[in-house]
Amino acid sequence: MSSGNAAAAPQEDLMIRVIDREGVEHTLAAIEGWRVMEVIRDWGLDIKAECGGACACATCHVYVDEEWVEAIQPATDEEIDKLDEAPMVERNSRLSCQILVSPEINGLRVKLAPGSESD
Ligand code: FES
Repeated sequence: MSSGNAAAAPQEDLMIRVIDREGVEHTLAAIEGWRVMEVIRDWGLDIKAECGGACACATCHVYVDEEWVEAIQPATDEEIDKLDEAPMVERNSRLSCQILVSPEINGLRVKLAPGSESD
């Protein structure tokens, strides 16, 4: 069914959920187009993200909740190569600087991985 009125969709309030290394879950307001890493960092959670999002350091490693793995855009070859350098990589590992916030992943849940904490 078409409503014919889809042009002016209001900007949706987006959020992501992040579990810190103590196991505490944080709900963070997020802006479409931002990198998940940037949202985590800007809310003051501890993430090293040494290269600032250039896919060059693997210190923004997160584990994506199983229910969200299929919803996010697949990893590029570049991301997969860089993830090889991160410790304790799992099937659901991703670099959070390579995931862009969008309405499709509103509510995304990730866990900060070991090795992504700042020194
Ligand atoms: Fe360096 Fe993500 S911030 S790879």
